[in-house]
Amino acid sequence: MRVLVLGGAGYIGSHMVRHLQNQGDTPIVLDNFTTGHRAAVAGCPVVEADLLDTAAVVECLEEHRPELVMHFAARSIVPESVREPDSYYRTNLAGTMNLLGAMHHTGVRRLIFSSTAAVYGAPDGSPIPESAATQPLSPYGRTKLFMEQMIADYARAYGLRAISLRYFNAAGADASGEIGEAHEPETHLIPNILRSVADPEFELQLFGGEHPTPDGYCVRDYIHVTDLCAAHHLAGLHLEALPPGTLECLNLGNERGFSVLEVLRSAERVLQREIPHHQAPAREGDPPSLVADATRARSTLNWACEHSDLDNIVATAWAWHRNPRY
Ligand code: UFG
Repeated sequence: MRVLVLGGAGYIGSHMVRHLQNQGDTPIVLDNFTTGHRAAVAGCPVVEADLLDTAAVVECLEEHRPELVMHFAARSIVPESVREPDSYYRTNLAGTMNLLGAMHHTGVRRLIFSSTAAVYGAPDGSPIPESAATQPLSPYGRTKLFMEQMIADYARAYGLRAISLRYFNAAGADASGEIGEAHEPETHLIPNILRSVADPEFELQLFGGEHPTPDGYCVRDYIHVTDLCAAHHLAGLHLEALPPGTLECLNLGNERGFSVLEVLRSAERVLQREIPHHQAPAREGDPPSLVADATRARSTLNWACEHSDLDNIVATAWAWHRNPRY
């Protein structure tokens, strides 16, 4: 299948490209390289363009005639979205609106969308099913929810088939060690723990300690990026079974929660050393606990996590972080 991967040079997008290649599909990357890495997509056809450039997006769809679009191209750092909502609304919402218009114009009708558990905010119950109320706490979470709603409207009116995959905490790296997570700035827990080991100048801070959780630290559901990609691939195949005009939302998580301290302990186990850290006040806007109920994804896609054991996530992330290629 020809698959246009928007944001294919980013962390999850580049793993998706690798997965599609391994499955015998033909990925084509569209990326503006503001945060993506050229080395992450070496050997794959690349269109350098911005989703805000409607003419370039139409041209790309007309030239490559993808049977499916996977949309990873978005800004995704929660605290940054609070400081700079303009760039989040512009990139995420206007970019998606352009994409949907271009897909309508060129007759491309299948879409897999990269969404997030941040659409739920801080729900009362755990685990979180797709039916939980969507009350995002940040501009980032709101843009993703609005993007889903926009996709639903376009789908209904123009006969798209679409699936929105709501990720919990994506982590880990490809088993090859050739691609991995490389954000600048880095705000995520596992890369920061590993950076503090690789770079003794970097001070690891553990935020929290007073959340209403068993050890006072936030609990998150870490899912290996390889398991996420497998679910995207199956979702692409499942689209055919959806009636035209439909957007289906599916949670992707490992359905197990680990606190910040438990993740640190996992890294200490895997690396077989103590990892020094400092206690810091809770980060603003961090929901205490986010754990997926992924029943719907498991049954709809006939999918299960195979790589998301926490120590394996940390081990594959460490294989990358000790020797990053970009
Ligand atoms: N944390 C630290 N120290 C750090 C970095 C993070 O203690 O250096 C803590 C955070 O305070 C939080 C936990 O580790 O308690 C997880 O934080 P991450 O930044 O790794 O991940 P988040 O849960 O904040 O956010 C991620 C994605 C979002 C997505 C969300 C869904 O970045 O895009 O998961 O669960 F919406």
